[in-house]
Amino acid sequence: MKDAERLNIIIVGTGYVGLTTGLALGHLGHVVTCVDKDMAIVDKLERGISTIYEPGLEELLQETGDAVTFTENLLKYLPQADLVVIAVGTPSKLNGDTDLSYVEGVACEIGQAMDPASPLVIVNKSTVPIGTAQRVETVVKEELDKRGVSCSFSVASNPEFLREGAALHDTFYPDRIVVGSDDMQALNLLRQMYAPILEQTFTPPQAVPRPESYQLPALVTTSPTSAELIKYTANAFLAMKISFINEFASVADKVGADIVEVAKGIGLDKRIGPGFLKAGAGWGGSCFPKDVRSILFTGSQYKCEMQLVQAALEVNRRQRMVVIEKLQESLKVIRGSTVGVLGLAFKPNTDDIRESPAIDVIQELLDMGARVKAYDPVARERYEQTYPEQSIVYCATAEEAAQNSDAVILLTDWTEFGYLSWSEIGESMKKKIIIDGRNMLDGNELRSTGFIYSGIGR
Ligand code: UDX
Repeated sequence: MKDAERLNIIIVGTGYVGLTTGLALGHLGHVVTCVDKDMAIVDKLERGISTIYEPGLEELLQETGDAVTFTENLLKYLPQADLVVIAVGTPSKLNGDTDLSYVEGVACEIGQAMDPASPLVIVNKSTVPIGTAQRVETVVKEELDKRGVSCSFSVASNPEFLREGAALHDTFYPDRIVVGSDDMQALNLLRQMYAPILEQTFTPPQAVPRPESYQLPALVTTSPTSAELIKYTANAFLAMKISFINEFASVADKVGADIVEVAKGIGLDKRIGPGFLKAGAGWGGSCFPKDVRSILFTGSQYKCEMQLVQAALEVNRRQRMVVIEKLQESLKVIRGSTVGVLGLAFKPNTDDIRESPAIDVIQELLDMGARVKAYDPVARERYEQTYPEQSIVYCATAEEAAQNSDAVILLTDWTEFGYLSWSEIGESMKKKIIIDGRNMLDGNELRSTGFIYSGIGR
């Protein structure tokens, strides 16, 4: 990257979005400072140790070396910055509204320390409710007024679409980049920040090769409000797509169709597309549940009844219990039985357990009087710490979780579950019952080795 193209960028917040974005921008050649209030996190990152489980992230952290600085001191680096990207947490409040205190806290600090001599673009990357760009602008202005100074700044919205488990891939090779701003200079600066990605002029990091069929991403420029709404619309639509296929999986179960084939049959229609049509135990994670509740809250504030989004949420709630119903059908009596649970993470390639179907399924099994043995390749520690009240026997392998169990329920589609030697596992089980909550196993093969196999909608 030529010096003239290099920007000085501060990223505030080193979660999935902040850390991934910071390292990626550093790799592209920008001067990046990642800020986090938590000294323990800063310390670890400085030593090249990733604070989150995400494929390729630690390698990139070590590769980017000096290009990215980690600090808890936003104020020290602010005067040199061209852009400050806000990527802090936006948790749900109990009523579904979004807690913006971290975002507003960062806006306050920026207002308190901004250098009147150098213009600044503030970028909202955190998923935030409609109107937050405007709110951030107001907070910054209030702080500047208190100081009695005026500074040239603008606030842009730049929603993030990366998936956990594929965060680096999605950052380097996105489908599109959305930038919302009413200020031409801010749009130009963001275009410059993303230029190496938009034109794919960077050398791919070793851990994240460029897919052969990858085509250049589109840049969507729009107003801050539309950008904010794009993020919610995308997540609500994807959540609804999964709930939709799950609803049809129930019909497929009743009429004897195979939902995997149905999904293939409809996904080939370009208007529908093949993605997010995998029926299973339902969606979880840090985004879909929170964002769906948040847009429902926004809808209610504006007197817009969002029936489809509401239904997506309800279908998802119900879907978690489908695996229990299937277990009951095969096992009959759950009390006193032992059930092996494979997968605690909300999806594979992450140790994130937020809103994971496993939480509800395991609680239901325990409430019904079952003994639960669980295995997950990476999420066990986090699960054990977060849900100490769930009395679970944690196992070191999938085989151990299945041993002497009356049934196995598969809840996360970790690749390794597809390579297990099920015939051997079957020999060690009390009853050969398997509920495949992710439709990832070969039901016919399992049945031929004596298993009672149930998928979702198959
Ligand atoms: C999601 C969005 O995809 C991403 O664009 C946004 O930035 C954040 O939220 P993420 O939560 O990381 O990303 O995971 P994703 O791969 O979207 O999966 C979400 C949930 O849906 C998981 O629980 C997954 O198991 C489930 N899922 C996904 C299905 O049940 N079926 C599918 O076909 C796809």
